[in-house]
Amino acid sequence: MKIIHISAECYPVAKVGGLADVVGALPKYQNMLGEESSVIMPYYNIAFTQQHEFESIYENTIVLGENTFNFRILKPVDFSLGFDLFLIDIPELLFKDYVYSFDDSNRFLAFQIAALDWILTLKIKPDTIHCHDHHTGLIPFMLQESFKYESLNNIPVVTTIHNAQYQGWFSHDKVNLIPEFNFKNVGLLDWDNSINPLAAAIKCAWKVTTVSPSYMEELKSAANGLEALLSNEYKKCVGILNGIDTNVWNTETDTFITKQYSISNNVAGKKANKKWLCDTFNLNINKPLFAFIGRLVHEKGSDLFPQAFDLALKDNDISILLLGSGNKETEAELEALKTKHIGNYNTHIGYDEKLSHNVYAGADFLLMPSRVEPCGLNQMYSLRYGTIPIVRSIGGLKDTIIDIENNGFGFTHKNTTVEDICKAIKRAVTFYKDEVSFKKTKTQIMNIDHSWDNSAKKYIELYKSLNN
Ligand code: ADP
Ligand code: GLC
Repeated sequence: MKIIHISAECYPVAKVGGLADVVGALPKYQNMLGEESSVIMPYYNIAFTQQHEFESIYENTIVLGENTFNFRILKPVDFSLGFDLFLIDIPELLFKDYVYSFDDSNRFLAFQIAALDWILTLKIKPDTIHCHDHHTGLIPFMLQESFKYESLNNIPVVTTIHNAQYQGWFSHDKVNLIPEFNFKNVGLLDWDNSINPLAAAIKCAWKVTTVSPSYMEELKSAANGLEALLSNEYKKCVGILNGIDTNVWNTETDTFITKQYSISNNVAGKKANKKWLCDTFNLNINKPLFAFIGRLVHEKGSDLFPQAFDLALKDNDISILLLGSGNKETEAELEALKTKHIGNYNTHIGYDEKLSHNVYAGADFLLMPSRVEPCGLNQMYSLRYGTIPIVRSIGGLKDTIIDIENNGFGFTHKNTTVEDICKAIKRAVTFYKDEVSFKKTKTQIMNIDHSWDNSAKKYIELYKSLNN
């Protein structure tokens, strides 16, 4: 089968969060299963694209309302990701030093139009188009409704919701930017008097998937305004748990970490990595090290961190290290806390892929008290690196982490509150002191298989069901 994924992010080319990891891995695993899976993404002016060479394989112009823009399809010359990668270069709109910004509706609409214009020219058409998140949410609508894409409207289109909090809303004033369609169907674009690309995708895609079974259930009652729509379309929706790329996230070969290690020598290996982290961040290696990696946004519960960390550090003999960026106020509060807990607490405010691997490898526990977590990849990386996750039981976290009290291997809590976070940390501190169980659990979690093999197969079955 020929599958084309269309996405705003793809690791390692452009990554803001887990979307990139998924789109950088799933097609690779689908190819390993014998399918022909490729990715179309924007060509941004960022470090990865600056460091690599690309050749143009197609050039044309797109129409966006009153304007026309030149675009090119680029292919990598000096690297391969295990699948064909096509980058859409629209110099005036996409070639920026960021992935997301304030003018995204025009940028990503142009991206989607260019992608479909190019697919129109392909001699061998895809058997499935797989769109990811709202940035590609208008593709299912355009395939179904826009006159110019009529010849493509028999191609099954799947939309994956990675996070329903973000829907890509824009005003109906911009409706003329969408390639001409029968205006009596304009309602398909609408949700609550805005053009809502994610809602349009839910209405028009042949199948809608999301990234864990529990999140699929939760969306019926918490989907940032789309609850009724998702309940209505529930029959075509399915939750498929994300996997992780076990080639990239492999403690035995990871070149980012200080000391590579295997399951059998994880105690010494993790100790060496913890030493590096503690030396680098002025922390005491003898104390249990709790870490957080991620976006500092409300969904992740980050507004509670300053208070929760302060209390946890006062009540327990522990260290906390945070790697993340996002809300400026939270960043400032987290920075300010450093002066109160010198030697026990530190932060790296920013995005640092290499450091993230070192944190997964060197920490003892990983905190994820998310309010919303469609899947969450961090907890799966953490398991693979022998770091015990402490999570709020929600979405994908609920589907992947079982509490130690229920014969499991992690710590779960019910709510995203300072009280619950601190209680969970306290339980973990007690557990850390039980050296035998702590060691045993680290080995146990490193053995858990969350690779993409299973889920990649589930997606292929889904595409096949649409091609029958
Ligand atoms: P989300 O996509 O909601 O941010 P996920 O858990 O799915 O959450 O994925 C987050 C990904 O981004 C992981 O690969 C994580 O390691 C990475 N990440 C998040 N913040 C940072 C950061 N500040 N530095 C490095 N990597 C980060
Ligand atoms: C989103 C979600 C996250 C998920 C990721 C990949 O960013 O917030 O939970 O793991 O997408 O699907």
